[in-house]
Amino acid sequence: MHTTAKSLRHLAIIMDGNGRWAERRGLPRIEGHRAGVQAVRRTIEQCRELEIPHLTLYAFSSENWQRPAAEVSQLMRLLRRFLKERKKDLHKHRIRLKTIGEIERLPREVREDLQAAVAASREYDRGTLILALSYGSRNEIVRAARQFAEKVKSGQADPSELNEETLAAGLDTAGIPDPDLVIRTSGEIRLSNFLLWQASYAELWFTDTLWPDFGKRELTEAVEDFNRRHRRYGKRG
Ligand code: FPP
Repeated sequence: MHTTAKSLRHLAIIMDGNGRWAERRGLPRIEGHRAGVQAVRRTIEQCRELEIPHLTLYAFSSENWQRPAAEVSQLMRLLRRFLKERKKDLHKHRIRLKTIGEIERLPREVREDLQAAVAASREYDRGTLILALSYGSRNEIVRAARQFAEKVKSGQADPSELNEETLAAGLDTAGIPDPDLVIRTSGEIRLSNFLLWQASYAELWFTDTLWPDFGKRELTEAVEDFNRRHRRYGKRG
């Protein structure tokens, strides 16, 4: 059976388990992250095949800064290499790159590479790849609230104008539809500060598969499960 994902406009993934994947093979953690990048590449391809227009990947959380400096810089190097290696592909398939999170906290060279890739793909319209980097949902909501408070302070807005729509307009995800499906790998059943506002009505799907082993089989299973679900948004069925 050919799987399609008609009502799935936005898939968001918490890519977890790279470290355990490496440990189980007696390899350094970086090898798990390297294999994780291959899973990222495969997933982008499969989303294109399934015609899922928006894909968000939780690549580096606000909390990940607390990891050993060596692991953080290895992840940053992998990210830069990913951008370089995937540039042609994103261009060929007209995929727009976006980022969410506190990008200004990233090392300058990573930030510059990202900004260049985002600018180069600005006009592309066949799909959007959103990388969550130095991202934490609570921090994002606080920044949006602060932005609105600043507007009030400068007389550009009135407190009565603050509502779900105006707050969401200040989130990093402004203009991107809310995720329909959130996947988390590696057997952990939690959201870990990922898209808390945006995933209010998202379907959640968990798998024991570690991120580097995530492939077509798992994604197809998740999409078919999503297709079977009946979304009611709090209304009666
Ligand atoms: C979780 O595994 C994964 C991460 C913290 C980072 C995800 C990063 C990548 C897949 C590579 C870089 C990304 C891109 C987009 C190029 P973990 O280390 O927490 O695994 P563990 O829970 O088993 O220790």
